[in-house]
Order: sequence, then structure tokens, then C-alpha cells
Amino acid sequence: MTTGADAETPWHEVATLAQLDPDFPIGIEVQGQKIGLFLLGDAVHAIEDVCPHAYALLSQGFQEDGVIECPLHAARFDIASGKCLTEIGQRDLHCFPVRVQQGQVQLQLQRQAKDRA
Ligand code: FES
Repeated sequence: MTTGADAETPWHEVATLAQLDPDFPIGIEVQGQKIGLFLLGDAVHAIEDVCPHAYALLSQGFQEDGVIECPLHAARFDIASGKCLTEIGQRDLHCFPVRVQQGQVQLQLQRQAKDRA
């Protein structure tokens, strides 16, 4: 999804679409930022990968019905919006603009402001 993309900000190729699985996210690191890539339907989402509670990697968690559950203490987050769904998660996750071009998944590192209402 390219919502929040900035024409001035470079895109980073981080994976191929073929690497993504609708049931299993993958974790990547771009310029020191750990980011999780998720496939929901035919849309790719990129959200911060480190759980705000105690720093487990969410990409090693359990993905189901558009929600990622932290593998350590079961905080749950909405993948499309980054919204925190359980108190233990502490806060919403930052999302990153992402797009797919010729089978390559690309993202921008600036964080995306989303309506969390
Ligand atoms: S580290 Fe994620 S819920 Fe505790």
C-alpha cells in the first residue's frame, strides 16, 4: 500500500513478492530498523517488527485474520493499521509506505500517519 508515500523519499527493495506467505510474516532490517512484512490478500503491509512491550519480534508471532500476535506475551496488533488491540501491547505500531513493482517489494522508511480512530 502506498498510502503516505513521499515522492522525495527513496524506496528500498526489501523482498520479492514471491517470498511473502499469507500465513507467515517475514522480518527484515533496513538501515537499522527492524520491519515486518505481511501479506493480507494481495496487499503487502510493512509495520515495525519490535513489540513495544518487551521487544520480541512480531514477525516470529502468529498471524491470523489480519492480526499479528506477539510470540512472547500475546499482545495483538491489527496488521493493516498497526493498531494495538490488547493493553499489554502498550501502543500502536508504526507503519511504513510499501509498494510492489515488477515483483519487488519496496518501502519507504518514513513512518506513515494513519487514522487510528
Ligand atoms: S514482548 Fe510482545 S507482548 Fe510482551
